[in-house]
Amino acid sequence: MSAKSPDKLTSQDAEKELDRLAKLIAAHDRAYYSHDAPTVSDADYDALRRRNAEIEARFPLLVRPDSPSHRVGAKASAKFAKVAHRVPMLSLDNAFDDADVADWLGRVRRFLGLADTDAVCVTAEPKIDGLSAALRYENGLLVQGATRGDGQEGEDITANLRTIADIPLRLKGKPPVLLEVRGEVYMAHKAFAALNRRQEAEGKPTYANPRNSAAGSVRQLDPAVTAGRALNFFAYAWGECSALPADTQSDMIAAFASYGLPVNPLMRRCETVAAVLDVYRAVGEQRAGLGYDIDGVVYKVDRLDLQARLGFVSRSPRWAIAHKFPAEQAETVLEGIEIQVGRTGKLAPVARLKPVTVGGVVVQNATLHNEDQIARLDARIGDTVVIQRAGDVIPQVLSVRLDKRPKSAKPYKFPDTCPICGSHAVREVDEKTGKMDVDRRCTGGLVCDAQTVERLKYFVARDAFDIEGLGGTLIELFHDKGLLKEPADIFALTEKPAKVAQVLADHRAALSEERREAQGKEVAKAAKARKKDEGEGKQVENLMAAIAARRIIGLDRLINALGIRHVGETTARLLARHYRGIDAFLDGMKAENAREDLQHIEGIGGVVAEAIHDFFDEPHNVKALGRLLRWLDVTDMAAPSKSSPVSGKTVVFTGTLEKMTRAEAKARAESLGAKVSGSVSAKTDIVVAGPGAGSKLKDAQKHGVAVMDEDAWLALIGG
Ligand code: IVH
Repeated sequence: MSAKSPDKLTSQDAEKELDRLAKLIAAHDRAYYSHDAPTVSDADYDALRRRNAEIEARFPLLVRPDSPSHRVGAKASAKFAKVAHRVPMLSLDNAFDDADVADWLGRVRRFLGLADTDAVCVTAEPKIDGLSAALRYENGLLVQGATRGDGQEGEDITANLRTIADIPLRLKGKPPVLLEVRGEVYMAHKAFAALNRRQEAEGKPTYANPRNSAAGSVRQLDPAVTAGRALNFFAYAWGECSALPADTQSDMIAAFASYGLPVNPLMRRCETVAAVLDVYRAVGEQRAGLGYDIDGVVYKVDRLDLQARLGFVSRSPRWAIAHKFPAEQAETVLEGIEIQVGRTGKLAPVARLKPVTVGGVVVQNATLHNEDQIARLDARIGDTVVIQRAGDVIPQVLSVRLDKRPKSAKPYKFPDTCPICGSHAVREVDEKTGKMDVDRRCTGGLVCDAQTVERLKYFVARDAFDIEGLGGTLIELFHDKGLLKEPADIFALTEKPAKVAQVLADHRAALSEERREAQGKEVAKAAKARKKDEGEGKQVENLMAAIAARRIIGLDRLINALGIRHVGETTARLLARHYRGIDAFLDGMKAENAREDLQHIEGIGGVVAEAIHDFFDEPHNVKALGRLLRWLDVTDMAAPSKSSPVSGKTVVFTGTLEKMTRAEAKARAESLGAKVSGSVSAKTDIVVAGPGAGSKLKDAQKHGVAVMDEDAWLALIGG
């Protein structure tokens, strides 16, 4: 790919490249959406679309009628009806080695307040490499089938799932009135090979691996096509259930089997880490002969009451973990190293590789992490490198084949200035530890266009303000023209539609001039005709309306949009749930003990609390947020459980708790909608005091706060 900046392209080059990109992106779209056989990594695909958008921003007259930017993802999801998951479909945390597994069981024990000697029974079963599906049975009849989607909302694929012979349309025995079975749809190796043979014979594209072909097969609009594909299913979990038929994971699965649902025969119950690891190794040995793809072993705490107590951290249950099999590796040539500057100013080195297939996916880029890593590996341009790809993780360069180093291999010098703004790029020294940060960061802050623009792009992105029509291209254009520096400026655009229209028109005129010079009148005429089609005035009008529509925004989206380091969608939601409203959130951030209070929020650890604190400690950020808030009406986050007697209450735990650990008490209280704080003030509603309570108990008396012991608390929240 030509890495020439769009600024430096002539319009002839640009036209050629837009043509190339349109065809390339359309081919990748077809491969991904229609055949579920991605031919490019997500990052590369995004880079292609970005490049297309960048060139279009510079050359709006060259925007093709079939431009990829007109199609905001040829997403298959648009084809199926949406299904809201009443119980979210979560993912699993990963363990990569034996120590991670032991750590997990240790965490489980500590959370439950168990001694090292107390047995915790867990199940171990293969992790099927397919796609997860939810099957809703009412009175034993299959009424709905859905994909996982984003975990909150999936696609209705009932008609397709009905065609899978493994999935009973009617359950046997006496299943609960309402039962939502969850499990994995997969394609066995034999069926996969046969399907690809058929595809080939019919001159159709083949699938990269069984998972993609299973996904492609259930996402067919015509159920007859799905019916022609041999798919299988294993049930391993559940969502909504009117009455649980068992009280352990293993008995639930046994009940599923009795209803006629297919369950994996390799599931075992284990009492110790050693036993769990034995299953892992045994399953690993059987892996090649199973006849279907698995990518690890999943462990789950067996007792359902313990599962309930353990609950969830952001998107994964504490009571389960996936022990992954080692990642797949491949060798290829390091053709170059490119530096990307992110919104936090980090200079991220990306290895540009000779394309190579790793575990069914073509890899062209891999992370080199940071400059120390490049030095440690002694990676030089032209070297043969070993890369590794594990699941959905970004591929990484593992090592260099020094024995294959060509004489021409060129050492790489990591830049000490930002490639975007030219500011010094430095490695900070952590005051507390005295250690040098592994990342070199651009010191340009507000003057660094990469950071400003990346932050603004993040602000308008889908999980944040989601402003329709205001994508990366326009953000860059408005930023270049001095209309945008900070989020508040986006809303200020609504007061200057004439100026916005002018910027767009000027830009077009300038390019048109350039074009006329470059290519003569003929082409310019054609371009003018195209310009008319675009309905410029309408574009400005729509944009103004889309921006104005986002002046009402949910607290979670707002927090996510701020782009605080380590705070993404999930953490933003945790914060919004905790503080509920913008005023409480801002008060909380201003409070003296903000950092400690943040750490008391379930799911928020020290590093994240520190980053949030740092953000609000910076007067510039607070001022910019203040300017933004003048435009906004921030809606409160709904309480998770309105009916709970403690929802909305501020609770402080002090002294020793005997029936549960502090972490568990906090998690329970929060799941019931209470806010757990570390210190007692006039705003505290309840202090739960155990033996040994000291100053906090006194504070409670001073402020006249209700005090209760652990038993009274448990009685209040229903045990
Ligand atoms: S349990 C609340 N068990 O792995 C956790 N998941 O990486 C529910 N998967 O989304 C999942 N085999 O699609 C579970 N035996 C198994 C599984 C399994 C495959 C998938 C599932 C999940 C993903 C998480």
